[in-house]
Amino acid sequence: MTENATTDTAPKGDLFSKFDDIIQTRETLLASGVEDPYNLVMEKVLSPTRAICNGRDTILLGTYNYMGMTFDPDVLDAGKQALADYGSGTTGSRVLNGTFQGHKECEDALKEFYGMDHAMVFSTGYQANLGIISTIAGKGDYVILDIDSHASIYDGCAMGNAEIVPFRHNDIEALEKRLRRIPEGAGKLVILEGVYSMMGDVAPLKEMIAISKKYGAMVLVDEAHSMGFIGENGRGVAEEQGVMDDCDFIIGTFSKSVGTVGGFCVSNHPKFEIMRLVCRPYVFTASLPPSVVATSATSIRKLMHGSNKRAHLWENSKVLHKGLRDLGFELGTPEAQSAIIAVIMPDLQQGAMMWEALLKEGLYVNLARPPATPAGMTLLRCSLCAEHSAEEVQTILAMFERAGKAVGIIS
Ligand SMILES: Cc1ncc(COP(=O)(O)O)c(C=O)c1O
Repeated sequence: MTENATTDTAPKGDLFSKFDDIIQTRETLLASGVEDPYNLVMEKVLSPTRAICNGRDTILLGTYNYMGMTFDPDVLDAGKQALADYGSGTTGSRVLNGTFQGHKECEDALKEFYGMDHAMVFSTGYQANLGIISTIAGKGDYVILDIDSHASIYDGCAMGNAEIVPFRHNDIEALEKRLRRIPEGAGKLVILEGVYSMMGDVAPLKEMIAISKKYGAMVLVDEAHSMGFIGENGRGVAEEQGVMDDCDFIIGTFSKSVGTVGGFCVSNHPKFEIMRLVCRPYVFTASLPPSVVATSATSIRKLMHGSNKRAHLWENSKVLHKGLRDLGFELGTPEAQSAIIAVIMPDLQQGAMMWEALLKEGLYVNLARPPATPAGMTLLRCSLCAEHSAEEVQTILAMFERAGKAVGIIS
C-alpha cells in the first residue's frame, strides 16, 4: 500500500482504494498551487471562439468546435422551432416512442452528407461505437485495432467480448502481421480512426483498408475529428484518401464539427437496418431530444456547403502549427494534419503550469495526460475553429510565447 493520507484512512475493503494513485497525483498537483485544469467553469459562452472564464474574456482553443456551428443562426432557429413543435424530450427509446420526425430527417441528412444507404443516430458518439462494435463483433470474432484507439472503441470491444488484437499506432506492417495470424474463416473487424484526437495525426487509411480487405476483414472508420473539415465535401479522411466505398461502417459524432450532441453510424451494408433491433445501446436508452436532432440536421446540411470555412480552418491550422514550431515548442506532428495541434509538455507539472499561464493570458486549451495520451505524454491540445480570425491566431501565438517563456518551456 502506498504511504499517503488517503490510503491510510481508507476502511478495509473500500472499493475506492483502486483510485488512490490518481487521487494522490491530483492532490500533489493541486497542492503546488496550480488551478484545477479539469474543473474550469465557462460562466458565459459568447461565441464558438469566446467565453467568460473566471470573469475574463477568453479565447477558446480546446473545444473541438471545428466548424463553429454552435451559434449559427439557422441552427439555433431550427432548435427553437423543434422545441416549440415537439417539446423538450422524447422520453423514450427509438424502438418504442422515441423516433420523431426529426430523427428521420437527421438520418436523411446524414445519408445525403455521406452518400450512403443507411444512417443510424445514437445519443452520443460514445454510444455509437459501443453499440455498433459490441453488436457486430461478438465472442469468437476478432477486432484488430490501432493501439491509440478512443476509449469508446475499446469499451465496445469489451462489451461485445470479441478477441482484441491491437497493433502499433498507424503502422501498416504491424496491421498486416496481426491480420496474417488470425485463423482463416474467423470474423474480423478492423477499426481505424481518420484523425487521432491526441496528436492530431491522420491515419494511412488507403493502405490500411487495402490490407484489411486483402485478408477479408470488414472495416469501421471513426471520423469523429475529421467530419465537416477534411475531404472535399467534409466527409472525412476516407473521402480525402478516396476510400469511402471500401468503408463498411463510418462512425461519427455531432459533438464536434456539427456543434450539438449525438453520434451516428452510416453504412451501405444491405442488412444494416437490423441493427435497430439488436443493438443494445440504441434500443435500451432514450433518444435525442427534438431540438438536438433538428439543430444537428440543419448543421449537417450546412456543412455540405462549408468549403470556404474548411479552407479558412486549414489556413488557421497551418499558421498556428508553423508559429508554434518557430517559437520552439515541440509538436505532435511535423506539419498540420488536422485542426488539432498537440503541444508536447516536458511533464505534468510544467504542463499544468503552462495551462494555467495560458488561462491567465485569456486562452483556453486542453491539458491532456496519461492514460488518455500515448506514451505517457502530457499535452496541451489545441483545436482550432473555422470562426477564429487570422488576427486571433496571431494573438494566440503571442500568448503562447509569453506563457512559454514565463514557465521556462521555451527560451
Ligand atoms: C475518436 C472519437 N470517437 C468517439 C468519440 C465520442 O464522441 P461523443 O462525444 O459524441 O460521445 C470521441 C470523443 O471525443 C472521439 O474522440
